[in-house]
Amino acid sequence: MAEALSRKGAGASLAAASPSAITTAEPVSEHPPALRTPSAPEDSQTRVSTSEPAVTGQPRQLPANLAELREAACKCADCALSAKRKNVVFGVGSEHPDVLFIGEAPGEQEDVQGEPFVGRAGQLLDRMLDASGWSRDSVYIMNVVKCRPPGNRDPKPGEVRACSRWFDAQWDLLQPRVVCLLGRVAAQRVLGTEASLSSLRGRWHEYRGVPVWVTYHPAYLLRTPTGKAAVWQDLRVLAERVQSLRAPVSGG
Ligand code: URA
Repeated sequence: MAEALSRKGAGASLAAASPSAITTAEPVSEHPPALRTPSAPEDSQTRVSTSEPAVTGQPRQLPANLAELREAACKCADCALSAKRKNVVFGVGSEHPDVLFIGEAPGEQEDVQGEPFVGRAGQLLDRMLDASGWSRDSVYIMNVVKCRPPGNRDPKPGEVRACSRWFDAQWDLLQPRVVCLLGRVAAQRVLGTEASLSSLRGRWHEYRGVPVWVTYHPAYLLRTPTGKAAVWQDLRVLAERVQSLRAPVSGG
């Protein structure tokens, strides 16, 4: 089951729509960035480790904004994935989003275009967002790992650790109201568990002070359309939580 769940002004329209609004069709595209690490040593661009990289966790120095962080991440060579990438796939969307959606790692199309979720799974994600009253611009979309694993295999633990300094800094700079983890790899990385996705779904978690919800990866939905109803429910829960966090606190 775990394998099956792996990759391969919000909510206004949610009540009126239905899971069938999340259809399974086609196209999308975009552009890449370019960049350098303020914190990494000068020779880091050529340092490509083939074994497990050191756990870094945090950038040695936190860039002050997302643009600087992107620039630094795009020069990263902290793991072997950097050697074969066409682009670092950093993230896209609002700089202070209501919802931060997190997938696993770039696939072929994402590697070429430098933007997360632009392949078939991404097109389904776009329709899910649309059906929920969101868009690519109103939320933020990123991955656990910023460079494409060969053959779209799962990222290795060392690759996930190597990317953690970008991941956590990005999370902290974005300050999302809520986070939605798409699929097993994102759920296990953020929640620090090997539990199955289905056991993590259906309740709130927390990471770095932010409420976190887990749902199925859009690629799973492409293979298993019956999962759409569950995802639909998850989107409603997210929208309701965003609304409640926005609501003014009544007092006096
Ligand atoms: N799957 C992911 O997890 N992320 C992408 O960016 C594309 C597909």
